[in-house]
Amino acid sequence: MSGHGDPIPMISHPCSGLSGVAEVPGDKSISHRSLILGALSVGETRITGLLEGQDVLDTAKAMRAFGAEVTQHGPGAWSVNGVGVGGFAEPENVIDCGNSGTGVRLIMGAMATSPITATFTGDASLNSRPMARVTDPLSLFGCQAVGRDGGRLPMTLVGAAEPVPVRYTVPMPSAQVKSAVLLAGLNAPGQTVVIEKEATRDHTERMLAGFGAEISIEDSEEGRVITLTGQPELVAQTIAVPRDPSSAAFPVCAALIAPGSDVLVPGIGLNPTRAGLYTTLRDMGADLTYENERTEGGEPVADLRARYSPDMKGIDVPPERAASMIDEYPILSVVAANATGQTMMTGVKELRVKESDRIDAMATGLRGNGVEVDEGEDWWAVTGAGPGSVTGGQTCASHLDHRIAMSFLILGMAAKNHVPVDDGGPIATSFPIFEDLMAQLGADIRRVSG
Ligand code: S3P
Repeated sequence: MSGHGDPIPMISHPCSGLSGVAEVPGDKSISHRSLILGALSVGETRITGLLEGQDVLDTAKAMRAFGAEVTQHGPGAWSVNGVGVGGFAEPENVIDCGNSGTGVRLIMGAMATSPITATFTGDASLNSRPMARVTDPLSLFGCQAVGRDGGRLPMTLVGAAEPVPVRYTVPMPSAQVKSAVLLAGLNAPGQTVVIEKEATRDHTERMLAGFGAEISIEDSEEGRVITLTGQPELVAQTIAVPRDPSSAAFPVCAALIAPGSDVLVPGIGLNPTRAGLYTTLRDMGADLTYENERTEGGEPVADLRARYSPDMKGIDVPPERAASMIDEYPILSVVAANATGQTMMTGVKELRVKESDRIDAMATGLRGNGVEVDEGEDWWAVTGAGPGSVTGGQTCASHLDHRIAMSFLILGMAAKNHVPVDDGGPIATSFPIFEDLMAQLGADIRRVSG
């Protein structure tokens, strides 16, 4: 089983205004997909702006294990020489996806319709997460999976030697499950149809079309119906990965709650399936503007400008917005703790099966630091007492979850006392430059030595 090494305890001290430009790294979802689709293509895919977080590096390593040639040429500049659809080789060893649910679930899909066997594992967080949500639909193609009790990793998949196409309605709002089924459908003859009742991030669909697959999307009474024609020849692409809106959320939210802040976060992808947090913040009264709005690589992009916003109010976040901001609820709860009144978040039970149970992890740390939080299986509510009201002082557990660690470090920036976090190590999975970037803006976040 992999791990990320010894815990890295950290402390975030209250700070005054953040200022400057925050250049956040490349989008994690698009980075994984660039490597996987590059590996399934013929020719050389060139990628710039690839996120070099551990999650994506683990996917790069996995693609090599399946036979692709993956090379780093410089910071964020990578190439992938693919093996083509159906060309995956059988890996010689166990595939270790570290902390990454996206990595393992998409790769399982990508290999499920090839006549090869592969065994997958990860760290303690990943090995406790549900995989049946992926292996159930993959079994319809003819793939077999044997894992631990409850459908957990480590798990071995025997790919279908004679795959059949599938029609599948995804039972939960999950882009990972949708993507796994689509990637499996690539090597099945005929048409694979995936139906999602609620729209989730659509990077896989957009990128499959970009790589030359025949894919159509139709809105119907059943939901969003995606039809993919199997066994295409995917053609290598040149990809410029946009900066990650989920990483941008941390400096943006820090600026909204740290008195006197004014921060510019340039070049952020604002695909509507990802941008729900920013709509929510504006609904709360945040001084958050979109500057220089443009389209890059087919995706809407803008520079985000966030200024200290002492007048934010709690709101009811519409449940239909949940999928477009699913990774942002932890940091939203930190903003809510500094707003006035109750922020009610409903339709969010998927938060309980992320890198950690994110409702439980945030509720526990927020309560310990003097914030009122109520919760149920599918909802939680944070009642803020206004700017500067969080007492702080209580150590928070990150539970091997990068977004929990970063959220509590941001909490400490606007609290009355510092906020310690037991382990900031997981931050390297998605935002390896977090500490340097926040320090440059004026944050006081330190590692606690021995
Ligand atoms: C992702 C999908 C989401 C999200 C994850 C990235 C993706 O997970 O939470 O961080 O890249 O497809 P689910 O599919 O489990 O909702």
